[in-house]
Amino acid sequence: MSETLRIAVQKSGRLYDGSMKLLKECGIEVSNGNNQLRVIAANFPVEIFFLRDDDIPEYVQDAVADIGFVGENVVKEKNKEVDTIEKLGFGKCRLSIAIPKTGALQSISDLNGKKIATSYPFILSSFLKEKNIQASIHEISGSVEIAPKIGLADAICDLVSSGSTLFTNELKEIETILYSESILISNKKLSAEKKIILESLQFRLSAVKKAKNNKYVLLNAPNEKLDTICQLLPGMKSPTILPLAEEGWSSVHSVISETDFWNIIEKLKSNGAEGILVIPIEKMIV
Ligand code: PRP
Ligand code: ZN
Repeated sequence: MSETLRIAVQKSGRLYDGSMKLLKECGIEVSNGNNQLRVIAANFPVEIFFLRDDDIPEYVQDAVADIGFVGENVVKEKNKEVDTIEKLGFGKCRLSIAIPKTGALQSISDLNGKKIATSYPFILSSFLKEKNIQASIHEISGSVEIAPKIGLADAICDLVSSGSTLFTNELKEIETILYSESILISNKKLSAEKKIILESLQFRLSAVKKAKNNKYVLLNAPNEKLDTICQLLPGMKSPTILPLAEEGWSSVHSVISETDFWNIIEKLKSNGAEGILVIPIEKMIV
């Protein structure tokens, strides 16, 4: 029987939707209708394992799963023997220290002699050491944000994404320890056959990522401005230029990065570009 690549994905939580969406954009069909723990993809040699995100680095290290989609924060905290392959571009968040909005504490130096609740004891202790702060760490595995209110700790160190958890619990961030997003990790000893599957998955991932960062742009331009406009829009090779029915005008098609677009748009307009359309790209292979 030929091999399948086993991918660990968060069972439920912040990264679940992003992980499933990314697999779908890569053309990998999986249905997790019945809350199953394992699902085999219909059209690609992969099997998805739905696990607690905190366990994913260990399972990948121990070859229970071959690769995993997981937050960089978890990978750093668990400190397991895995290879980091690439960033996945979703699940952006930060690990921060937060304190009650009202209270005696003001800054991280006030944390000396205090208690900090966290699910990230490893990262937090190295941060405190680096800053020379003597605080005690109280490790809890969930609902860290309620610790100050119930008197379990003076401050917390937890993930912040939208900030709504901190807001609801009347906490404020005073220091960011690290920024994180979803990454792809791999077991260090994949078989040759699994490596080939991983390569073809990575090929798909890169096509999806490039497409997300780029836009297809169409615009109409007066012919005498075509040179200037084409310089602004280099495109993948060079822009496509098609004559319009109206004499003296052309349609220009190109691909530009999302960030460049906002810088270029004014210049395009001042050079006479009209009817500018910006269209998302689904896949991009260069
Ligand atoms: C994190 C963190 C907060 C929440 C913050 O949990 O523990 O509860 O997200 O998000 P917000 O700023 O948008 O409110 P996570 O999703 O990592 O869940 P887990 O700790 O159960 O894995
Ligand atoms: Zn978790």
